[in-house]
Amino acid sequence: MKRLWMKLACGLMGAYLLMVPAAQGQQVPSGKSFDLIEWNGGKFIYGADYYPEAWDESQWEKDATLMQEAGFNFVRMGEFAWVKMEPQEGHYDFAWLDRALKVLNAHGIRAVLGTPTASPPAWLYAKYPDIAAMDAQGVRYRYGSRRNYCLHNPDFVAATTRIVTAMAEHFKDHPGVLGWQIDNEVGGPKCYDPASQTAFQAWCQRKYQTLEALNAAWGTVFWGHTYHAWGEIPLPWNTLYNTSNPSLALDFDRFWSDSTHAYVDVQTAILRKIAPRQAITHNEMGMYSEVDYHDLNRSLDFVAWDNYPMGHEDYSQYFRQGLAHDLMRGSKDNQNFMIMEQEGGLPGWATFGGRQAAPGLYRVWAYQSVAHGADGICYFRWRTSRYGTEQYWEGILDQDSYRNSRYFVVSQTGKELGQLTPMLEGSKVVSPVAMLVSPDSRWALQIQPGVEDFQYERQLHDYYDAFRRAGVSVDVAFPPSDLANYRLVVAPALYVTDPTLVNKLTAFVKNGGTLILTFRSGVKDEHNVVTDKTLPGPFADITGVAIHEFDPQINEEQEIVGPGESSFPARTWSDILDPSTANVLATYGKGYYSGKPAVTENHAGKGLVYYVGTESKSPFFYDRLISLAAQKSRVALNAKIPPGVEVAVRQKAGKKIIFVLNYTSTDQTVPLDQAYQNALTGKTEALEVQIPAYGVKVLTTP
Ligand code: GLA
Ligand code: GLA
Repeated sequence: MKRLWMKLACGLMGAYLLMVPAAQGQQVPSGKSFDLIEWNGGKFIYGADYYPEAWDESQWEKDATLMQEAGFNFVRMGEFAWVKMEPQEGHYDFAWLDRALKVLNAHGIRAVLGTPTASPPAWLYAKYPDIAAMDAQGVRYRYGSRRNYCLHNPDFVAATTRIVTAMAEHFKDHPGVLGWQIDNEVGGPKCYDPASQTAFQAWCQRKYQTLEALNAAWGTVFWGHTYHAWGEIPLPWNTLYNTSNPSLALDFDRFWSDSTHAYVDVQTAILRKIAPRQAITHNEMGMYSEVDYHDLNRSLDFVAWDNYPMGHEDYSQYFRQGLAHDLMRGSKDNQNFMIMEQEGGLPGWATFGGRQAAPGLYRVWAYQSVAHGADGICYFRWRTSRYGTEQYWEGILDQDSYRNSRYFVVSQTGKELGQLTPMLEGSKVVSPVAMLVSPDSRWALQIQPGVEDFQYERQLHDYYDAFRRAGVSVDVAFPPSDLANYRLVVAPALYVTDPTLVNKLTAFVKNGGTLILTFRSGVKDEHNVVTDKTLPGPFADITGVAIHEFDPQINEEQEIVGPGESSFPARTWSDILDPSTANVLATYGKGYYSGKPAVTENHAGKGLVYYVGTESKSPFFYDRLISLAAQKSRVALNAKIPPGVEVAVRQKAGKKIIFVLNYTSTDQTVPLDQAYQNALTGKTEALEVQIPAYGVKVLTTP
């Protein structure tokens, strides 16, 4: 019966397609790099997340007209509309979505459709209560929110397969559908139910083959946690005093990331088979740590992510967004990406998430995305919801559809990006510096931060922000990426290592690269077991230091003396360094190890390794440090960029496209290395570029 219905639906779809005069869908660009602009028929992707199901159909035509006037050519739809598409098990209704697509397509707007699995229907929970995830205390979630399914539940996977197959069959040849977003922001919550435990045990068996190997790798001799059957292996549910074995806990994090990837692949496999002409992406979450995006993105055509700069009280914290953009770009080997949810209004659920932003900032944030490699911007959301949890999460328009100041800023930005598209297409961010972000180290340091105040992300920002303050582009590399093209690599807190990674970094240095390593590097092997070598373990040779003593910092009471004349406050940790071949750049200023080395520099092969044994809350410490390292590795810095202004560069055929972004409420002056041409006005700008408050200038080589 179901199959008959599906056949009928496909037949109707075929007839419908004959009637639609829309342009042919683009072929999915093939080859190593996916060109988003080519995919979108030569247009910069520009649009909004749209929920036609929540508005009267009489509104759709007005919406599409306003969208077209704003320069839109794109919407994302459908990702929470499962119950609307499958109101009863096995009964599908896509007619409403066909009608919405028809209205939008007639205005030159095409869509990415979300598979709706983040928000399963109430009837599915009623029939299969165990599709809900279980928390670490053994309590099952219940229906009423979203994102609380268990991806190991066979009934849920079967229901996923059915709805994704039905959607793919229905929309596979639709000229107005460019592609697919899988689910919505995958990753959590982690599920600790019996199905997940069995899946974890099977994962362990595949990885270790024998229990002897697992027991040895995890050091299960400790507290007598030795296993004699795969079925005895627990999940890390001992959140009481955090007493699960860290080796087991790290493998569980890897397993969870793998399971998420496998669940996404249930969907990609269906779509690739049925709808091969349509591209596949997912809306990712920047710095979110529970999924190894570099691994997940092997299954996707391009990266899309959800960019919310106003999550921060301080609007000037633009480096947070910058690093997230760069990490997202790095998670698919620096291929350009798109923003699937770009902030379009004030965020908030029960309460608004902060003050209103100056309307001009929405334009600055959009350009920041482009400057860091976005070839598409889709705002969340077209209009604020009248219903449900997100009544206070603003869209571009508010519930009354009045064309407010955000609408005009978004329209202006859309028109400008349209004008800039030929110049932008094919241009990329090219960076002399890479920051190594290790999912293993990040997970292991979440399991055991070592000291309360340890924050992996803050460590990244210590260095990242210093380079960005000086106008230097930074790529994010995931191990074991190729590092040969970089002059300088920063690898903060490389806590978990394996021989491949150590060999790669050693070769990078010996061939002439500069490497910055920091405290808590080389502490653990790949099983999250502490090394029996003197720290920094596998890096002792290239750093030219030994660490026989360390001091976890509680109250920021240490001091760093140097580099040079200055001194800086120290926090978080002190490695007391014992140099063998390294030169001392800074020492500690207080207490029983006053005068002992804190920061060193060591020549190894043709390269240079800095070891930084502590952290500082002072940005000047990092400015000083990176200026030393940059000078020695021929990385050019611009020391004159005023605070609150970002300079970011894309390049094409040796030509620079420079984005100067002013996040502040005052006019700013930015000295550049030569006079550039304004890409929007065609006029040559002064050497000292003037940028109005909340302003943007896009410059290029004349
Ligand atoms: C107690 C226990 C020991 C050890 C220490 C430190 O004293 O008896 O086995 O766990 O705490 O945690
Ligand atoms: C996430 C989700 C969206 C929406 C926004 C705002 O980014 O993907 O569906 O909920 O947050 O809350």
